[in-house]
Amino acid sequence: MCGIVGYIGNKNSTEILIDGLKKLEYRGYDSAGVAVFGQNGVNIVKSKGRIRNLEDKIGVNVPQGVCGIGHTRWATHGEPSDTNSHPHKSGRVTLVHNGIIENYSELREEMCDEGRVFISGTDTEVAAQLIDKCYNGDPVAAIYDAVSKIIGSYAFGILFDDRPDTLYAIRKDSPLIVGIGEGENFIASDIPAILSMTNHYYLLEENELAIIKSDSIEILDRNRTPLKKDVFVATWDVSAAEKGGYDHFMLKEINEQPRVLADTIVPRLKNGVKNIFIEEMPDVSKIKRLHVVACGSALHAGMVGRHMIERIARVPVITEVASEFRYSSLLFEEGDAVVVISQSGETADTLAALRIAKKKGIPTIAIVNVVGSTIAREADIVLYTCAGPEIAVATTKAYTCQVAIMLMMALRLASDRHTVSDEELEHYVELLRQIPDVVAGELENADVYKQMAESYKNCEDLFFIGRGYDSALCWEASIKLKEISYIHSEAYAAGELKHGTISLIEPGLPVVAIASGDQLFEKTISNVKEVKARGARVILLCKKGANVDDTVYDDLIEIPDVDEFIRPIAAIVPLQIFAYYTACARGCDVDKPRNLAKSVTVE
Ligand code: G6P
Repeated sequence: MCGIVGYIGNKNSTEILIDGLKKLEYRGYDSAGVAVFGQNGVNIVKSKGRIRNLEDKIGVNVPQGVCGIGHTRWATHGEPSDTNSHPHKSGRVTLVHNGIIENYSELREEMCDEGRVFISGTDTEVAAQLIDKCYNGDPVAAIYDAVSKIIGSYAFGILFDDRPDTLYAIRKDSPLIVGIGEGENFIASDIPAILSMTNHYYLLEENELAIIKSDSIEILDRNRTPLKKDVFVATWDVSAAEKGGYDHFMLKEINEQPRVLADTIVPRLKNGVKNIFIEEMPDVSKIKRLHVVACGSALHAGMVGRHMIERIARVPVITEVASEFRYSSLLFEEGDAVVVISQSGETADTLAALRIAKKKGIPTIAIVNVVGSTIAREADIVLYTCAGPEIAVATTKAYTCQVAIMLMMALRLASDRHTVSDEELEHYVELLRQIPDVVAGELENADVYKQMAESYKNCEDLFFIGRGYDSALCWEASIKLKEISYIHSEAYAAGELKHGTISLIEPGLPVVAIASGDQLFEKTISNVKEVKARGARVILLCKKGANVDDTVYDDLIEIPDVDEFIRPIAAIVPLQIFAYYTACARGCDVDKPRNLAKSVTVE
């Protein structure tokens, strides 16, 4: 949700900034801009739309200078336009911002009364004006003075007209790292932006201020005391953030699933030992109930996990959307723990949910992909998915890794609570080991789903139905399809369809029935017959060899006949591929669907 990058060193910064912004474009792509210190002061170029529009606008007039900041925007306050694009310059201050300034209208009004003139409709310009207003030759004092008046979230990269050799940065509730180079340094919202230049970085904590020159980085706290910070080293390699020959990041990430699932699962398994799973969770015996809180696909992974945990470990699980959870009555009981799930580790609502739980003294467990992200740093226990950088806005590999961790969590709880025998546990371990190969086998059938996508590409509405964990899978399959192909789709518990929604079924309307589970298979097939009888065009997803009459479906997706415990992962893979090729067949911008951003750091 908005990407920030900054450079100071000995090279021309424009190319470095643009390259960094391209790596951050998944955070928003309503507009992009750069500001570079040149011979005659700060030179700003910005443009509505994608980074390629900015590049077109720059053309051959590349701003020259060794210090600059850049921004790619997901609009919150003020429509996407050239004027509302970042960087914003007010007086002697130029800045880029990720976050939301909640009291921006009061601040703006106050400064208008003082005679300041605003040119954009953004909350960010208010921050630029405020820092300029507070500036009396001491940038640190001006920044701290200004942020003390700001309510909301921010990561700022800031330039002062009279400090051409210094880049300033500060953050609160929005991510920002400071990259450490040789004779050059960086700021960025996320590691991929700077990975081709350095993998060493500092994490800025809340309201720590970085003063960055080409050969030095000083980080201060609010009292202006210099801090000694740990240097982090990113283990992701540069190629992980490149397309590597695939047409889209999404397709690359779908194909990476066997490897990243192995990276996530295998190190956590040890043969023949009890209590083998997830050593990061030292003592789970006191847990009586789990609240699983997340947003989007991460929540869907939690919904699948709920079924596994309840069935295998007999621990009750409540799943809740983070944006609702944070404002709910929060009725915790003794023995409760909160599990938050987040690929980015920065999602604002999920982070807020985590903080609320911590404040109430509830133990917190986070399932996170990005190492060192805010959620990872603040949770009591962190279980990392090892999916590597995920760039496509629509998640695939991070989602399946989240489900894998939830399955392992189910076993860890089951083992401690003695709800499964040692033999069963060994059996489950063996099943977990099979997951990467099962997924790899499914990827070989991609062409089948590509052809299927061709024949459904013109539909405008579609339903996904299923029961039990298949119903949770419907949510993920549905969001995958709709977010990238713009086909309207809905996920429905198969048994609930007849309570109103079945009136929407008409001849030819596609219904994807997910019937991968054993227990409720026949029940789902009954619901399939109900929609088939009303003319629906049915795609049935079930395990190979399932006993099903071929008159109930039009197209069949068969997943391998693997144990039911690992089928939720096997079942989503063909549906990811189907969504991908459907979006391609409709000519959609698969990696950057309209209006979306991958990392949602605002409420
Ligand atoms: C956005 C993304 C989704 C993601 C959700 C939660 O909406 O587009 O793919 O599932 O945020 O993100 P998180 O980083 O917390 O998993």
